Amino acid sequence: MNATKPITMQIEEAIQDIPGWSPIDQLLTLFTLAYSSADLDGDILELGSWCGRSAVALGMAAKLSSKGKVHCVDLFPEKNDWFKNEDGTYSFAVTLDGKTYGAYQNQTVWAEPYLKDIAPMYERYSGTLEAFTLAMQTNSLSDVVFPYRTDLEGFAKNVPNKFALRMAFIDGDHSYDAVAKDIRIVEQFLLPDGWICFDDAFSSYDGVNEAIQKHVIDSGNYKRLQQMTRKCFVAQRR
Ligand SMILES: C[S@@+](CC[C@H](N)C(=O)[O-])C[C@H]1O[C@@H](n2cnc3c(N)ncnc32)[C@H](O)[C@@H]1O
Repeated sequence: MNATKPITMQIEEAIQDIPGWSPIDQLLTLFTLAYSSADLDGDILELGSWCGRSAVALGMAAKLSSKGKVHCVDLFPEKNDWFKNEDGTYSFAVTLDGKTYGAYQNQTVWAEPYLKDIAPMYERYSGTLEAFTLAMQTNSLSDVVFPYRTDLEGFAKNVPNKFALRMAFIDGDHSYDAVAKDIRIVEQFLLPDGWICFDDAFSSYDGVNEAIQKHVIDSGNYKRLQQMTRKCFVAQRR
């Protein structure tokens, strides 16, 4: 990485070919918090990585600060895991080691993003994990960014003793129950002064908004709370 070339430009170049939705202002926010929290003795967690756009920004921050790993937890669905619901929206279910994990069952995926962004991705790659792995290799981030094909509960059960987080970015299932549970699990590991960040906050998803309102804003557990971009909300733990 180049210390004098604007980081926005470096992120834009790194993600230009990676399918996904995270816009540059949000990626810059995530990068900045991950980079500036490097004095905390913890790693970075991402729940919901898709093909790796936000993971690249987090990985660049970990690498540039020479501190911490980025753990990326996703069910990494393949094409055949997706199915159409009766109302025309889409969901997926992934079976791993005999256990089936459903996603987007309550807050389903609208037909438009499925047809415009999700289905075409599977014409380029065999699955999201292949796209993610390639994105990390292309950007020389495979030594700091690690994918885990599971849900957050499965990941949390297997972390080492003293596992701690300086930052977590939540961008998985967008139902209230899922986000509330994600917050509970992240809080087991989030250090004082560490950041919890959310995609799709206070934009189009009532479940995400309600979970943040109740379990972050109203909880009293966070000292700084701010909507940073159109859909990225961040909070710093007391
Ligand atoms: C909006 S995408 C993430 C986009 C990504 N952050 C980016 O910047 O491109 C949401 C991701 O959450 C994953 N996901 C949904 N429900 C999940 C769950 N219960 N556990 C783990 N991953 C889940 C999906 O597989 C999908 O890759």
